[in-house]
Amino acid sequence: MLCKRSLNTLIVASMMGLALLILFFSGFFEFPYTAPTIPTVLGDNLTKPTSQINKSDPFKDLLKAFKRWDSQMGCAQFRKRHKESSLVRNSSVSSASSALQSVGDCGGLKMGHVSVLVKGWTWIPDNLENLYSCGCGLSCLWTKSGVLADDPDALLFETTTPPMVRRKGGPLRVYMDLEPGRKRSGVEDIFISYHAGDDVQSTYAGALFHNNRNYHVSSSKNNKTLVYWSSSRCLPDRNQLASELLNLLPHHSFGKCMNNVGGPDMALVMYPECANDANGAPKWWDHLHCAMSHYKFVLAIENTMTESYVTEKLFYALDSGAVPIYFGAPNVWDFIPPHSIIDGTKFSSMAELASYVKSLANDPVAYAEYHAWRRCGVMGNYGKTRAASLDTLPCRLCEFISRKGGRNA
Ligand SMILES: *[C@@H]1O[C@H](CO)[C@@H](O)[C@H](O)[C@H]1NC(C)=O
Ligand SMILES: *[C@@H]1O[C@H](CO)[C@@H](O)[C@H](O)[C@H]1NC(C)=O
Ligand SMILES: *[C@@H]1O[C@H](CO)[C@@H](O)[C@H](O)[C@H]1NC(C)=O
Ligand SMILES: *[C@@H]1O[C@H](CO)[C@@H](O)[C@H](O)[C@H]1NC(C)=O
Repeated sequence: MLCKRSLNTLIVASMMGLALLILFFSGFFEFPYTAPTIPTVLGDNLTKPTSQINKSDPFKDLLKAFKRWDSQMGCAQFRKRHKESSLVRNSSVSSASSALQSVGDCGGLKMGHVSVLVKGWTWIPDNLENLYSCGCGLSCLWTKSGVLADDPDALLFETTTPPMVRRKGGPLRVYMDLEPGRKRSGVEDIFISYHAGDDVQSTYAGALFHNNRNYHVSSSKNNKTLVYWSSSRCLPDRNQLASELLNLLPHHSFGKCMNNVGGPDMALVMYPECANDANGAPKWWDHLHCAMSHYKFVLAIENTMTESYVTEKLFYALDSGAVPIYFGAPNVWDFIPPHSIIDGTKFSSMAELASYVKSLANDPVAYAEYHAWRRCGVMGNYGKTRAASLDTLPCRLCEFISRKGGRNA
């Protein structure tokens, strides 16, 4: 039992390793990054509490900050504000929800069971392999085993191109590309990517990326060093953007790029409590969340700034209990909880952004408000983002195939 568990752990760990490698190198297929044109700070994304703000308190204790926010603002007011603002947004910006496909619609299923055979190498972790009971009474088998799925309804390809032709009545060809370029194979019957306009949308917001991590979350925030940054693929444009901001803010840079903590792999030296108790040499992704959680802010910059491309870089930071400073998809608000991140592109200059970050760092009540969505259960669009994540991909794909009528469609 123990043996099997640690073997599983190992397998999952190496899967994640490969996954992360792929994510790293995915940047080779990127469009050149163009520096964001930065409009001035605006409205609700930067909502400040209406109550009195103490701007000169370099607090460390997150729980105390929460208590102060509770007494000055509280969930009832937060919910009301974000209900109102979502209604207003809803009527004026009609595209707000079209960034996400709606899931869970029970209409139009034509098949009761769908089986998907996953072909070739893919970075989707193996623990998705299973027989699922999906909504609307559909069952879905998702497997890499040609024995378990001896007569599959669909074949899924990610890193390999599907066959040029599909014989009549043969399995549908599903092709997935979650890289920013969203390149179709040209021969698939069903295309999966991160955009709502694709046949099946898959976001990066799921727990799938998190298996086998150390989820220790620090309640004590570093009040001298404000920002966590880690990047080991030193893309010139990303580096430049990061350095423009980080030059203005006390930060720790743990990766290869602009490292200022005395070398790579220093996180465990600085935060020994982040060591995973799993056997084997620690890998940086095991303790990523835990290390981030010691900082008030995490800088998250996408490799490519393009619509709806919101990746685990942002969700890691959110999940660790830090406030992300984000440069990425222009429609990022369609994917995240209200008042949960600082959208760096909305500031007129890096100086203005840095000064906003510093003021938050010295203001426990205003800072605590960035955690209110979680404490008050206000998910906003994030609910839909999660529902369309990789975690739920087998059922959503099976439902799509079922609606299409399967191989005979
Ligand atoms: C944040 O700003 C963007 C861009 O101006 C806007 O479209 C969006 O509705 C705002 N988000 C919230 C939560 O108000
Ligand atoms: C403001 O912060 C200081 C320093 O932590 C604290 O002593 C004071 O009580 C705070 N004032 C208010 C109104 O919260
Ligand atoms: C907002 O959207 C919901 C469904 O998405 C709709 O039921 C509601 O009427 C909309 N509200 C406004 C003010 O448009
Ligand atoms: C950090 O917090 C401690 C205790 O709350 C305080 O004494 C110290 O001045 C703060 N440090 C900075 C750099 O603000």
